[in-house]
Amino acid sequence: MTTTFAQPSQQDLVAHYTHQPLTGQAALVTGANSGIGESVARHLAAAGAATVINYVTNPDVAEKIADEINQTGGRAIAIAADVSKEDQVQAMFSKMFEAFGTIDILVNNAGLQKDSAFQNMTIDQWNFVLGINVTGQFLCAREAVREFLRRGPKPEISSATGKIICMSSVHEVIPWGGHANYASSKGGVMLLMKSMAQELAPHKIRVNSIGPGAIKTPINTSAWDTPEAEAKLRTLIPYDRVGEPKDIGRAAVFLASDDSDYITGTTLFVDGGMTLYPGFATGG
Ligand code: BGC
Repeated sequence: MTTTFAQPSQQDLVAHYTHQPLTGQAALVTGANSGIGESVARHLAAAGAATVINYVTNPDVAEKIADEINQTGGRAIAIAADVSKEDQVQAMFSKMFEAFGTIDILVNNAGLQKDSAFQNMTIDQWNFVLGINVTGQFLCAREAVREFLRRGPKPEISSATGKIICMSSVHEVIPWGGHANYASSKGGVMLLMKSMAQELAPHKIRVNSIGPGAIKTPINTSAWDTPEAEAKLRTLIPYDRVGEPKDIGRAAVFLASDDSDYITGTTLFVDGGMTLYPGFATGG
């Protein structure tokens, strides 16, 4: 697998974040060796965070991303773990704490699709998607919150004791035929995020989601890799372009930094207006 999905070079990102708003912080990005997760990890690292590149498959890609970050003045390590497995998640956090001491920023990004017509959807397809997309976010968030509470605030580094960013989707609100497991998982992520945000705000832990629309990544290649497919996809996007991984990386830096210090419990849709019901632009 390559990393050619419109990722800017690490040098360009480092130049972009000259003020490095995340300096002195440690971040963990799950599913960080491709697509949106890779972009988020690269952006957080360029913005100054020591970053864990979590992965399950393709260790060489994860190591390459970490190497590029380390060679451009940043700090990163790659750690393997399946986020749906409690023991693997706990082992990953232990390795992170050995390397970086603590965690300040968790990006619950790992997610996947197993699409099927509803009547043919198997219990394995259902459980697999819910296991990674929802249970995985719960398991990682729980470990992060335990560490935030144990460690307490570090006001010299961030106003918040900890920040969690859940990677959701426009499909936390847009129903999606043929993808009932995926849409259910993202609807679940929405109320997981809001419930955590409500419960943890008094501890100065901020929890938010990013709701990407159609972003050019391996998860949806068939939706944009021919001119016909891309033209059809753009009819769903009022801003009339398909998103790129860097659109999400930039949003993640904002939600992880003190620039968003008064924001908790919200989903930031980064979707070119996909959630604006473009079919109603005329008519209705
Ligand atoms: C899905 C993509 C899809 C996009 C917009 C995302 O959450 O993973 O496959 O292109 O939503 O429908």
